Amino acid sequence: MDLKNIFEKFSGKSKIFRNREALQARYHPEKILHRDKELEKIAAILAPSLKGEKPSNLFIYGKTGTGKTLCVLHVAKQLEEFAREKKGNVRIIYVNCKLKRVADTPYRLLAHILHELGQEVPSTGLPTDELYKAFYDLIDRRSDVIILILDEIDQLVAKSGDDILYNLSRIDSELKKARLSIVGISNDLLFAENLDPRVKSSLSEEEVVFPPYNALQIKDILEERARIAFQQGVIGEGVIQKIAAISARSHGDARRALELLRITGELAERKDMNKLTLELVDEAEEKMESENIIETIKAQPQQYKAVLYTTIILNEKNMEINTGELYNHYRRLCSQIKVRPLTQRRVSDIIAELDMQGLLSAKTINRGRYGRTKSIECTIPLRLLEHVKKILREDLGL
Ligand SMILES: Nc1ncnc2c1ncn2[C@@H]1O[C@H](COP(=O)(O)OP(=O)(O)OP(=O)(O)O)[C@@H](O)[C@H]1O
Ligand SMILES: [Mg+2]
Repeated sequence: MDLKNIFEKFSGKSKIFRNREALQARYHPEKILHRDKELEKIAAILAPSLKGEKPSNLFIYGKTGTGKTLCVLHVAKQLEEFAREKKGNVRIIYVNCKLKRVADTPYRLLAHILHELGQEVPSTGLPTDELYKAFYDLIDRRSDVIILILDEIDQLVAKSGDDILYNLSRIDSELKKARLSIVGISNDLLFAENLDPRVKSSLSEEEVVFPPYNALQIKDILEERARIAFQQGVIGEGVIQKIAAISARSHGDARRALELLRITGELAERKDMNKLTLELVDEAEEKMESENIIETIKAQPQQYKAVLYTTIILNEKNMEINTGELYNHYRRLCSQIKVRPLTQRRVSDIIAELDMQGLLSAKTINRGRYGRTKSIECTIPLRLLEHVKKILREDLGL
């Protein structure tokens, strides 16, 4: 096979893309559309830092892809620049708690924050209290206002509990010179409800909510980005509208919309076409959906995979399955792969969770005096089934 052709085709100037990076996740757009209100609110809440006062702690929430990280980083950057010009002492520390190993334990988080402030501590070994003390001492040397942004803060609490938030929010009252404010960001809308009430009230002294974008707003965001990313005239009629409509239907997620636009462009390029077309959008959507399903499946714990695999196999035999039958076959599978089976009750919970993730559907059926059971059906698209089975067999060691 002559790979040279392929390399040649892609090393030249792209007919489709002008600046591919503008569609990648880490690209920071210069223009932020339809978020003036939120940007202003955040700026107003953090502005007292310019006078050396402690801004209220701030909690920001909204669904995924609604621009929370983008807007907070934008305000933070401008605030820091403004402070520098005016010789104010504002310092911003940004931590993405979702990143592996950054926020797995309070110790790790504190070590990471200290590192950001230029102080290295051993990655394990010291008592955590000593790290709190080191952090306190370090920032209180100067009369700075420190704004600590904890992005995906729900991940931090899931991994290391909410004590750390309590302790951090208390540090401010003990500081002599410096001030410390916390900005928490989350896309888990129920997260704050489950916090310790003291932590919740201290974290949400102020709140800003990011609503989902509607189709028109997504269209504007896409158009603006397309202008930077694509060659002139390559976007077919109705393409942006279609992507915007699809994304608005699935909760107004700008990240998914931009991803769909990128994949559509890549398909056009790979097929050596001159234009992005409506058909390509369909294809891109299907591709994205497949990738999402496969990723979701790969990320399931072993027992979930076993339940899912059993469902698929039984469905293929065209059996209408209920929880009891599924459980029997699941037990057989467990003995085959030498894992200890869970109780039927636990398996019912797993079925409900797989249902919520959209991998199967479980309908309750009333059998009169025989009680109730569930009728379980796999909902993975047919075109993916062979591939999914292969993955599950490999992961289960079959
Ligand atoms: N108003 C906007 N204008 C331009 N681009 C935007 C806008 N809102 C979001 N985006 C883009 O959409 C993507 C998602 O935005 P962002 O990462 O800020 O979402 P988020 O709310 O933090 O989501 P998550 O909760 O999943 O972290 C980014 O690539 C961002 O550049
Ligand atoms: Mg984010």
